[in-house]
Order: sequence, then C-alpha cells, then structure tokens
Amino acid sequence: MYRNHTCGEIRTENIGQEVILAGWVQTVRNLGGMTFLDLRDRYGITQLVVDDHSDEEVRKTASSLGREFVVQAKGIVRERSSKNPKIPTGEVELHLSGLTVLNSAVTPPFTIQEDTDGGDELRMKYRYLDLRRESVRKNLELRAKMAHVTRNYLDSKQFIETETPVLIRSTPEGARDFVVPSRMNPNQFYALPQSPQLFKQLLMVAGFDRYYQIVKCFRDEDLRADRQPEFTQIDCEMSYVHQEDVLNMFEGLTKHLFKEIKGIDITDFPRMTFAEAFEKYGNDKPDLRFGMIIHELTDLVKGKDFKLFDEAEYVGGICATGCGEYTRKQLDALTEFIKRPQIGGTGLIYAKVNEDGGVKSSVDKYFSPEELQGWASRFDAKPGDLLLLTFGKREKALPVLSSLRLEMGRQCGLLDKENFKPLWVIDFPLLEWNEETQRFFAMHHPFTSPKPEDIPLLDTHPGKVRANAYDLVINGVEIGGGSVRIFDSSLQAKMFSILGFTKEAAEEQFGFLMNAFKFGAPPHAGIAFGFDRLVSLFAALDSIRDVIAFPKNNSGRDVMNDAPAQIAPAQLEELYLSLVKPE
Ligand code: AMO
Repeated sequence: MYRNHTCGEIRTENIGQEVILAGWVQTVRNLGGMTFLDLRDRYGITQLVVDDHSDEEVRKTASSLGREFVVQAKGIVRERSSKNPKIPTGEVELHLSGLTVLNSAVTPPFTIQEDTDGGDELRMKYRYLDLRRESVRKNLELRAKMAHVTRNYLDSKQFIETETPVLIRSTPEGARDFVVPSRMNPNQFYALPQSPQLFKQLLMVAGFDRYYQIVKCFRDEDLRADRQPEFTQIDCEMSYVHQEDVLNMFEGLTKHLFKEIKGIDITDFPRMTFAEAFEKYGNDKPDLRFGMIIHELTDLVKGKDFKLFDEAEYVGGICATGCGEYTRKQLDALTEFIKRPQIGGTGLIYAKVNEDGGVKSSVDKYFSPEELQGWASRFDAKPGDLLLLTFGKREKALPVLSSLRLEMGRQCGLLDKENFKPLWVIDFPLLEWNEETQRFFAMHHPFTSPKPEDIPLLDTHPGKVRANAYDLVINGVEIGGGSVRIFDSSLQAKMFSILGFTKEAAEEQFGFLMNAFKFGAPPHAGIAFGFDRLVSLFAALDSIRDVIAFPKNNSGRDVMNDAPAQIAPAQLEELYLSLVKPE
C-alpha cells in the first residue's frame, strides 16, 4: 500500500494513529536537530517531523531530500506545538518512523507554492508543474464539476449525448478552418470542426429530438484572453421547439449551474433586443452589473456653432456617477484612452454637475447654462456626477462609448466578479454587410432562420432582416449563442443565394444537408455555450487559459511540446505535400 490517507485529511481526531502518506516534498526546513517537511498531494499539505528520536535511516533519508522528491512517509500523528491556522491540517503533524524516496526530482524551474509565479511562459512550458499548485488545479476541478452538473441536467431533460466526427469537410463560412491532409485521398483535406453545427442538425433529421455534446471545436482565428484555437462547447440541439423553448431550457441550465456550483439563486434573467443593446450599451453583450447607460444627445446639441457636434451623425454619452471630482489629468487620460487605435474614438467632451446643480463643461462657450442643464437632465445626473460625451458616425461612436463605459465601470470599482448578471440578447440581424468583399455574411451562420415576419424583406432590404438568433451574455461576456434553424430546403437555398453562393457551389458545399432536409426535417433550434468562458466566469478569472489544462499561447503555440512543428520529409511525401518558403 502506497498510502492509507491523503495529505489533506489528517485532523486532531487522528492523533496517536499511525498513517502512511505519499506525495511531493514541497519544503524542507532544517532546524538543528529537527527537520520539518511539508508533504503535498492533490488534497493538501501535511507537516512531517524528523527529530533526534527518529530512526537513523529516516534521519539520513530526510537529509537527502530536495524539492519535489516523491516520498512515502509513515508515522504517528501528533499535535503540533506551533499550529498553522491557515491550512486544514495545521493542528497536527506526522512524527516519522519510516521514509522512502519513491522518486527523486531535479530542481524545478519555479517554486511550486501558492503565491509564487514563474512568469507566464515558464509556467506554460512546465504546465505539469504549474498544475501541481492548488490554485491552478482547483480551476480544473471546477471545470470537471461543471461538466458533470451540465451532463446531469441535460440527461435529466432527455438529451442524448452523441459524438460527432472531428475529421470533417471544410466549409467556407465562419472563421478559418484547421485542415488535415488525407494520406489515402491524395491532395484532399479534412477540416477540424469549428462546431458540430451540421451534424447536430442532421441528428434532428435522424429523429434524435434532443442532442448534446461537450465537444472540442477548432477555429484558426486571432487569439485573445477569451479565445483559444481549440476550445470546448456545450453544444445542443432540439426538435419541435420555438425560440422560447430553447431560451427557457438553457436559462434553466444556467440557473441550475449557478445554484449547484456557487449556491447562487439567479432570479432576474432579462431579454434585450440587439437594437436596444447597441443603443444603450454600444455593443451586443451588455454588462448589466452597473448602469451608466448610454444616452443620445444629438437632438440637444445641434446648431450651436460647435463644429464637432454639428458635423456628427451622432452625439451621445454616459454619466459617471460621483466622478465630478475627476482632475484635468484624469480627463486627459480618458481622452487618450478612447483615442487608442483599437478603440478609435475621435474626442471626448465632458461636463460636471457642481454641488449647486450648475453644469460646467469643456464647451461652455457654445452652450448656455440652460442647454447644459438639458444635457444633465437627459442623464438624470446629480451634483457630483460627470458627463462624458463623444460624437461621430453612430456605428462607430456607440462602440467607443461602450469601451468608455466599461473603463469607467472599472475605475469606479463596479465590475464585481462575484456579482452575476445574465441576459439574453435576441433579434440579431440575420446578415452583415462586408465592405471589403462587397457581400452579405450570415451574422450567426447560414442555417439561421429569419424572423417569419421579416422574410418579405429578404428580397428588398436584406440588411434589415432580423434573425431568430440569440446570445446568452453574462457580465459582458458572450457565453453562448444559437438560433432557430431554417428547415425548409427552398428557404435554405434562397439564403445561400443571398450569401453569394451559386447554385452549384451551394450544392457542392452543403448539398448533403439540403438533401437530408428533403427527407422530412423537423423544425429545430439549438445553442452552444462556450464552456471555457463559462468556467472562467464562475472561477472569476480573466483568461480562459486558466481553466484549460494545456492551453496554447497567444501565437497559438503549445510551448510545452513545441507544437506546431515541422514534420519529416517522408511524412510530407506520403501526404503529397511540399513546403513553400514563407514570404
Ligand atoms: P458560436 O460561434 O456563437 O456558435 O459559438 C458558441 C460559443 O462558443 C464560444 N466560442 C469560443 N470560446 C473560446 N474560444 C473561441 N475561439 C471561441 N469561439 C466561440 C463563445 C460562443 O458564444 N454552432 C453555433 C451554435 C448554434 O447555433 O447552435 C456556434 O458555434 O462562448
């Protein structure tokens, strides 16, 4: 027997008992005649003691130990003379009667303790050592628990967990595909799925009725804190349902997860149209943890000889409660903030509501005190508040205000990570115009159904058509997205034609789906949650990397095993590939 207890479970009740532990040596402290060792395993840390009364062999072994040696330790549980209230085993220690080195270890590149940090690259290179730390491992434990709770919930609602293929056909919509050459089919390639979208729809044609899968998806896109090239979805599809049924089912899953995992009752689950979200929050994923809603002032500010406003299509702003004391330096920093290239703001105008209710602005010479009061009342601003306005094209100014709002939320300490505010954003536009390619793209995907009442607009104003598409947003993060699907092959064909596919191209790419639909496709709809995002939200972390056991870095590399890597010429040859020099 390697062990009869773990390093996290011994308490005062065990005093006097002989126990055997196994684990890693976290620290060795040699205090003259006594040696204290901290032994760590997944469950905790137990202090081991070797002293003058210990066996000669045990003392010799103890003096040879280094960090991260793997040992088996046998001894009697004693009460500690100096207790450590910070750990659950802190009242006891093990006085050793036996100590065996199971394996030695070279010095680790960083110390494996809770509050040490070897730097990101080093931690990723030695991820298996990083994962020995409790703070890192507990994120993965949370992930496992959330997957378990999700499965139980969906199983209880009659969803069938079904695996779909990982080697599939490349499709042109969405992000870039990762492709895999086929040895048996010269010059042909599989793609890794960006999602199991088509397969889950085919499972509905197959009569599965309710499908789910906790599934890896692959997208070759630029990486960010909330994006990895391979990530995991909770992917679902249901037959004979309307949008409402899907929203209720997955609102149920979300509430169940919050209750089971965090003990939180989510009572409020509002819905907001895409149009309202954009108007009031400047984006399609509003963070409802705080107010500071965007208000438009265009109607109040025109015709006062202030050129920037007069020339702007849109003028709007936010009211930062209690920020009236902001200094010139702080305001300049906010102007710099919105002018960053990634935000793209043109300028910031501010106004402060004084204690006496008067409004003082950076453009006082153009606007009368009454006009400035008009601004303040649009925001319902109170003495001590700060109005921050920007201007420009509506489509550009609103996202700038969105970034400014989030920045002010951060500066005012309103982004409490333990306060969870979910909502559904609904009624997304069906299509998005792309200037560069001069064509429409599906905003969600080409299988999304237009709202029935908007179908006539498909021929006249395709850009105005709204979709039966929805996103689950929590605290400003897009956690999930889905839609009601087109299940009529002629409407699907029309959609492909609006997206610029010739009949032949649509047939070649998606013929199997359209063909399947001819055999009696039921009405169906579905959704996918980004599982990594959901776990990192529950863990109050900023990056999904921290909830992935072996994540990629920002260049899409696995720095531990150094992938991607070159392959041998012989391997290239059997795949009919040759290398081209990068430009
Ligand atoms: P969508 O493309 O919106 O929908 O993806 C669903 C959810 O997956 C997460 N996600 C990601 N997470 C981490 N890294 C990425 N690179 C990444 N890309 C997306 C997001 C997103 O909300 N087949 C449809 C779903 C459907 O219609 O049923 C789909 O994949 O949280």
